[in-house]
Amino acid sequence: MSIIEVKHLRKEYPDATPLKDVNATVEEGEVISIIGPSGTGKSTFIRCLNRLETPTSGQIIVDGVDMCDPDVDLPKMRQKMGMVFQNYALFDHKPVVENLMMAPMDLLGMSRKDAYDQAMDLLKLVGLGDKGFRWPHELSGGQRQRVAIARALAMKPKILLFDEPTSALDPQMVSEVLSVITRLAEQGLTMLVVTHEMRFARDASSRVFYMDRGELWESGTPEQIFENPRRKETREFIFRVRNWNWEINSVDYDYAAMFSSLQEFCARQFLGHRVTLKCQLAIEEITSSLLMPMAQEHGITNPRVLYELSIGEGGDVADLFIDLKAFADSGIDIDKIFAFADEVSNKILKNVIVQTEINHSGLAHFVIG
Ligand SMILES: Nc1ncnc2c1ncn2[C@@H]1O[C@H](COP(=O)(O)OP(=O)(O)O)[C@@H](O)[C@H]1O
Ligand SMILES: [Mg+2]
Repeated sequence: MSIIEVKHLRKEYPDATPLKDVNATVEEGEVISIIGPSGTGKSTFIRCLNRLETPTSGQIIVDGVDMCDPDVDLPKMRQKMGMVFQNYALFDHKPVVENLMMAPMDLLGMSRKDAYDQAMDLLKLVGLGDKGFRWPHELSGGQRQRVAIARALAMKPKILLFDEPTSALDPQMVSEVLSVITRLAEQGLTMLVVTHEMRFARDASSRVFYMDRGELWESGTPEQIFENPRRKETREFIFRVRNWNWEINSVDYDYAAMFSSLQEFCARQFLGHRVTLKCQLAIEEITSSLLMPMAQEHGITNPRVLYELSIGEGGDVADLFIDLKAFADSGIDIDKIFAFADEVSNKILKNVIVQTEINHSGLAHFVIG
């Protein structure tokens, strides 16, 4: 029997229907990543599973229990199904270890000593064995989120639900939290993780659910979803998350907006730190040391530059395509754009670009790695 069975799940609000007709099963020990655009029902789905929301219709069976039965023992079921939110809601006036002891003592009737021992073991499991007597505010966001995971584990759940557990964290903290989740997966816990981290979805899940506009469009192995999506909706989404596009139309382009968009894209990809830095450096150098000065020198006031960055399969190299037709059309020999860079820029670019192909009509392709 599947540990979770969802049949014809529908959730309506007066002005929105976040879930239309969702059908899904999850087997014990599976790690499911739920991906999809924002506002398409992913949180509502997770919240219906443990009845933080009441479905309008349909059926949810968890470990043989009908979650929509009016007599269902919700506290008991929620204990079986822990939840970790985007914002670690820790009790700030209690030391970390106490945060992990309260619920097991109150709800499971655990003795203070057992709850303490378990809390210290769980802190070790999430790599925070030395932080038990710190206050939550003394920890970083990534550490607090790991405490939140340990706290959910303290109730000995069979299932853990995560709703974007890393989206409030800085990029460098994302991987520490995801590696804890990956470790739990290896221990056989059943987990459903709503995430924007495509690399995590691809590498750590047994199956991926693609949700869009209140429906579960496709579920399959990471290989199927990322390499061979069957539905057009899935294909388009995967293409979008794998590709960063930006257009510059003026020498006074919005540098800050461009780089924060690029940073966000790189973070969501969970790209290797080195290749992330290299992509940023390459794009920055090419734009501000090569293209913009060149446009100014040639009197091109509104240079149109189109960037497309796409991430290779392993996440260790990236392809950068730059459409420079506007330059080519103005008679600039774009084969020779590197001749325009000064010595320092050339050195930097040589370090981050491993392959270059430039054609005369104005399309440049750089492999960054
Ligand atoms: N409590 C609510 N009341 C009204 N509409 C809601 C409520 N919760 C979610 N929605 C709507 O349902 C849709 C899906 O929301 P959500 O499940 O949070 O999406 P996701 O997690 O995929 O971003 C959104 O359009 C949202 O505005
Ligand atoms: Mg959400």
